[in-house]
Amino acid sequence: QITNIHGREILDSRGNPTVEAEITLTDTVTGRRYGGRACVPSGASTGRFEAVELRDAETRYFGLGVKKAVSNINTKIKEAITGRNGLNQVEIDRILIETDGTDNKGNLGANATLAVSMAVARAAAKSLNIPLYQYLGGAYTRLMPVPMMNILNGGRHAANTVDFQEFMIMPVQAESFADGLRICAEIYHFLKKILEEKGLATSVGDEGGFAPDLPDAEAVLDLIVEAIEKSNYFPGQDVKIALDVASSELYNEKTGMYHFPGESSLKGKDIVRDTSEMIAYYEDLISDYPILSIEDGLAEDDWDGWKHLTERLGDKIQLVGDDLFVTNTKRLDAGIKLHVANAILVKVNQIGTVSEAMEAIEMAQKNGYKAVISHRSGETEDTFIADLSVAVNAGQIKTGAPCRSDRNAKYNQLLRIEEELGTVAAYKEPLNKI
Ligand code: PGA
Ligand code: ZN
Repeated sequence: QITNIHGREILDSRGNPTVEAEITLTDTVTGRRYGGRACVPSGASTGRFEAVELRDAETRYFGLGVKKAVSNINTKIKEAITGRNGLNQVEIDRILIETDGTDNKGNLGANATLAVSMAVARAAAKSLNIPLYQYLGGAYTRLMPVPMMNILNGGRHAANTVDFQEFMIMPVQAESFADGLRICAEIYHFLKKILEEKGLATSVGDEGGFAPDLPDAEAVLDLIVEAIEKSNYFPGQDVKIALDVASSELYNEKTGMYHFPGESSLKGKDIVRDTSEMIAYYEDLISDYPILSIEDGLAEDDWDGWKHLTERLGDKIQLVGDDLFVTNTKRLDAGIKLHVANAILVKVNQIGTVSEAMEAIEMAQKNGYKAVISHRSGETEDTFIADLSVAVNAGQIKTGAPCRSDRNAKYNQLLRIEEELGTVAAYKEPLNKI
């Protein structure tokens, strides 16, 4: 039974406020209490169709305070779920959705509902004395995710000239998650050395990847391939590359074109690409580099473009919809029907409850789409997504560079989970179908 609930305002990895919730479950027979705590992340390149992140819009914290969301937890949500069975996650989430009463969590705030939803799951797992991944996933839970590790940041996550938001490496041939993590960390350090040797900046962006000024995607990819080779791994075999273009940020509705401000500034001329030029650009990039996955290659509303992109590249690489699907089953269902993309990025705060995120994962997997579990660029020490990635046998997790504790918290939690699973832990190339 839920006997107490408490929300508070804390800070995220960018120094902005975010929501934390604590739940107490009391065993009605023994009187024993179990606590669960969870913190909510926050994006920078947020999709237009995401659930609402309630911000105070007052002077404190430049309008980013979350006192209203916290107060919703401590009043309306507390009233609605106190006394309820904390082991019934779906029911609790349904009450949260109904108490909010909107399509986009605009009333209570998805930051309020998600903090509570995750904290309830944690407390429930504790009350049963089982790990969170097992509580969420059940007895068959065993697949460790391949890291999709962002080692070079651009776009909205850094102040450099790189226009694509994320350049990631995937250690697809590692023996285990721990081995894969080591490979990624070694490549990360080699990349740092290469950047230093070339006199390029080794400062990092929001997700811990380096953020040097480079003229275009090819220049970044050359450096990453060099770092993989210097680490004694074979690009395309041991380690593959993934991109998050976050192209909704590059798209200009007035011109109908994708604008590349960084590339333009370093090349001294306006670089713009239309949808078909973007698709052709990706075709060139995947023929020149060992790219396994491209996320948000086109803008969140460019369904026609996405259809073409999927027709051209969908049987060659993974095409991930982030801003396109926003972890929302309605948008995913539309995408599946239109044969758009072949994977969904899952960010729990895009939708606002654990059950709805898991519903999106289930829908994806049932329809042959991959689900990539993801952090946000603004993170906390919360490791919920590490457990979630194992629980749903997602096979892939995107949670930043091996640098900055908000990112490593997730990787370190996965190391613990793998150790605990012992010999049943599995690790495999996630895209052998493609
Ligand atoms: P965000 O970036 O958290 O800033 O939205 C992550 C992503 O786009 O995948
Ligand atoms: Zn993205």
